[in-house]
Amino acid sequence: MNEHRSGGEPVVHALMATGIVRRYQQGAARVHVLDGVDLTIHAGELVALVGRSGSGKSTLLHILAGLDDADSGSVRIRGCDVSGADQDGRAAIRNRHLGFVYQMHHLLPEFSALENVAMPLRLADMPRRDALARAADMLGAVGLTDRATHRPAQLSGGERQRVAVARALVTQPALILADEPTGNLDADNAAHVLELMRSLCRTSGVGILLATHDANVTAGVDRIVRLENGRLTS
Ligand SMILES: Nc1ncnc2c1ncn2[C@@H]1O[C@H](COP(=O)(O)OP(=O)(O)OP(=O)(O)O)[C@@H](O)[C@H]1O
Ligand SMILES: [Mg+2]
Repeated sequence: MNEHRSGGEPVVHALMATGIVRRYQQGAARVHVLDGVDLTIHAGELVALVGRSGSGKSTLLHILAGLDDADSGSVRIRGCDVSGADQDGRAAIRNRHLGFVYQMHHLLPEFSALENVAMPLRLADMPRRDALARAADMLGAVGLTDRATHRPAQLSGGERQRVAVARALVTQPALILADEPTGNLDADNAAHVLELMRSLCRTSGVGILLATHDANVTAGVDRIVRLENGRLTS
């Protein structure tokens, strides 16, 4: 299933999804939102997922994350079988290999920027001191060292989204799924957050799938895939 390098050692992709089908029953009609989607993302690759509103981008991201079930098809994240795992197995794969960035930052309002970034590590039982140290490094990587003690309400929209990117990356996941991460930002802030995702992608080797319908967002990504009539085209 995976490709092989010349040495014969299998290449483990950040994401390998094949034959994803998802239908909704809409009264008497059956809507084929995803009708056989195949998608591979390599380590360090930034892929934009475009398509008109209602084309199924969010549905696909939820299935890739194991938060929704496909009717058929297979999803592997860093070689781990998401589609075949039970709820606990999926949660474990998500915690270990996956980060999310949403349109709304979903930061916890009563915690500082630093504590928000440290949260996924604390949830994975990393000792507090180590988690905060690693979170501080990550906040530095997104250029927010001097905002570490600010709560979300004391940050700008762009800063909040950069904190959300830091939080998604702090566990060193194989894959980040980002659903309209710049949807609530003005053009300058959107460009800044994107530039950041691009450079983190290169330096950390994380694969990123970024759903958007904003044409400005797709400039400078490694690859654009379009969701149309339930299928992906390049
Ligand atoms: N629970 C559901 N039951 C029935 N139909 C659904 C359900 N969830 C989503 N859909 C339909 O599936 C289609 C895809 O929705 P989805 O949210 O994935 O689109 P999207 O590409 O993310 O759109 P947007 O760009 O507006 O965020 C839509 O037509 C939607 O109405
Ligand atoms: Mg959507």
